[in-house]
Amino acid sequence: MRKKVTVVGTGNVGATTAQRIFDKGHADVVLVDIVEGLPQGKALDMLESGPVTGSDASVIGTNNYEETAGSDVAVITSGIARKPGMSRDDLLLTNMKIVTSVVTEIAKYSPDCVLLPVTNPLDAMAQRAFQVTGFPKERVVGMAGILDTARFRTFLAAELDVSVEAVSAWVLGGHGDTMVPIVGSTLIGGVPVTKLIAKDRLDEIVQRTQDGGAEIVGLLKTGSAYYAPSAAIAQMVESILLDRKQVLPCTVYLEGEYGVDGLFVGVPVKLGAGGVEEIIEFDLTDSETKALQGSANSVRELIDVMAKA
Ligand code: NAI
Ligand code: 2OP
Repeated sequence: MRKKVTVVGTGNVGATTAQRIFDKGHADVVLVDIVEGLPQGKALDMLESGPVTGSDASVIGTNNYEETAGSDVAVITSGIARKPGMSRDDLLLTNMKIVTSVVTEIAKYSPDCVLLPVTNPLDAMAQRAFQVTGFPKERVVGMAGILDTARFRTFLAAELDVSVEAVSAWVLGGHGDTMVPIVGSTLIGGVPVTKLIAKDRLDEIVQRTQDGGAEIVGLLKTGSAYYAPSAAIAQMVESILLDRKQVLPCTVYLEGEYGVDGLFVGVPVKLGAGGVEEIIEFDLTDSETKALQGSANSVRELIDVMAKA
């Protein structure tokens, strides 16, 4: 029997993610949205691509949660996305209410699933999902770091005219302006990037990475990125469904790791059938450690705002 993945929110990120998962054929997919007809229409359209792409999986759309029962993974993309001039944090209170109601339903029908929050501000929404569901920390894992790292790798590969696969890099911390590209551990074909790109230029690439989401919003004007985000989500889903145990930057609950306690922040983790199977701690420079803790403090400010709401 195939695994089952629910994707809540059938907008840009949710629908593109569902299509990527359906195309692989590893799991049946359930799409959920509050807009009547939207998940049903997108699911039927996707299903009809199966004979062409060779996927025998099923994909259905619904406005309620009964059909999500028994999901192995639930991806949460429901909520509002930012428009030009808005930060991810401007979405906080609206999306907090949406995520609260959605994960309550998901937990009711799929109490054993791995929850994969995506809605922004991501770290705060992951924390909210963890609090509301009472799921063990291993089964709540947010997507952001793979996306931020992919942007960093894209810009470095273009700068050096090498394959993106030659670039090994990590972007850790919260999914916001204070995210932390770990320059000290970035290698291009095994060579430290600091030997290949001058510091001023590297600083510009780091800044572009930190502004990567806003750059896309500025171009699209009506919403935010979804092709790279959905690719990142699909990689996480596959690592869980196929128990691949990939080591990926994901947003997880820290209890002292990297000097952060009681908060969801992006760090390298081993992702397998059980969700987060291990948090990988590697050496950071003093300034990287300070930046990571500063980024965690920004997440904590949002958690405090939610607590008072
Ligand atoms: P979108 O506006 O295209 O889609 C959002 C969907 O959520 C809409 O179809 C809407 O009807 C649905 N929705 C709203 N309330 C709902 C509810 N209570 N139950 C079910 N569905 C509901 O937005 P898009 O571009 O898909 O982005 C979704 C979220 O993901 C945003 O918050 C965005 O900021 C975030 N995002 C996060 C990324 C990350 O790296 N963590 C990357 C990209 C987007
Ligand atoms: C991004 O970084 C919207 O958070 C999303 O593109």
